[in-house]
Amino acid sequence: MKLHTKVVHAGDRKKSGPHVPVTTPIHTAASYFYDSMEQLDRVFGLEDKGFSYSRYDNPTAAALEELVATLENGHGALACASGMAAIHMAIETALADRPKSIVAASALYGASISLLLQVLQPAGVAVRFVDVCDLDALRVAVAEAQPGCLLIETISNPLLRVGQMDAIAEIARAAGAALVVDSTFATPLIMRPLELGAHFVVHSATKYLAGHGDVLGGVVVTDEEHYPALRALSRILGPVMGPFESYLTMRGIKTFALRIERQCANACRVASWLATHPRIAQVYFPASPSHPDAATIRRLFPPNLYGAIVSFELKDAGKNEIFRFMDALRLVVRATSLGDVHSMMLYPVMSSHREVSPKHRERMGIGEGLVRLSVGIEAPEDIIEDLEQALARG
Ligand SMILES: Cc1ncc(COP(=O)(O)O)c(C=O)c1O
Repeated sequence: MKLHTKVVHAGDRKKSGPHVPVTTPIHTAASYFYDSMEQLDRVFGLEDKGFSYSRYDNPTAAALEELVATLENGHGALACASGMAAIHMAIETALADRPKSIVAASALYGASISLLLQVLQPAGVAVRFVDVCDLDALRVAVAEAQPGCLLIETISNPLLRVGQMDAIAEIARAAGAALVVDSTFATPLIMRPLELGAHFVVHSATKYLAGHGDVLGGVVVTDEEHYPALRALSRILGPVMGPFESYLTMRGIKTFALRIERQCANACRVASWLATHPRIAQVYFPASPSHPDAATIRRLFPPNLYGAIVSFELKDAGKNEIFRFMDALRLVVRATSLGDVHSMMLYPVMSSHREVSPKHRERMGIGEGLVRLSVGIEAPEDIIEDLEQALARG
């Protein structure tokens, strides 16, 4: 079955009585009642399928989990309260019975870097960053660090670097490490990391999956080997997504493939236009033939889908110039997030990578003149017109 079909069918219409709701309802109950203690005992003991307590399992979250696991071709999923909670759960599960050492891509979302340096490192986990687009450097780092886990992003935030996922998975597997992939920017329409050898794929569902700027959530999808440990840890820690958010995320996903196709097409138009503008110093976009990972993108991405984020640098711009430009925007929303139906712009130095040290930011290539545009589903002419007037006025 094709992804466009799965998004509208998977997870729904679970039979629990004579009638079946066509779409999964919001189940708010905290706990579940059975005719006999014996039945409840079997559910608690995981001998029978069923729900006992919503920190363990919830029917609305379960429907969403089945849907996302289906889209990623995984064994099972866990819906979490945020993307960060999902990344944390994936890493903790990966490291449960492996060496407490992580090799991470140096190009990551700011809070992921903070999770590594401010939470996991102080708790005794060794952390080492490396450019994962350089496979030789990665091999050296893995040989030296002997990691239990590799952490990468499919398309990195915000400079859109793309590592060779299949080769990285091979390196991880040869070293006995688990590969955790944050695929928020790519979505399962562009890449499905588990099919390329990853052990965990994580999404901030806040972004493209939910897609409407009204949900905070995350999802971890994993293979058969790690799924029981992921759920067991979640039963204890309880980082789960609530039923209202699960419902909204599932509703959002039904149109996600259509949205992404439109957003990707719009992003191509916007990136091409930006590249010709005299005030723009550099455009970062995976469709560009001069992209440093162009060969990997050609090999691993489907035709004509390059994601819908366009990052760019304004010529001779620092904070003041960027503030003036962004204040002049009338349609594109100045806000921290991405992947919504509306176009949004963010200033990485101020928001997504604010907590990252200036030295690490410099190593990643994030300067004071860089902005990140998440292209929405609007008419592309209107997005371009807004950028044009803001570049002229700001
Ligand atoms: C690539 C990436 N991963 C993870 C996250 C964290 O997601 P959340 O804000 O849902 O915790 C973000 C948030 O911007 C992100 O951009």
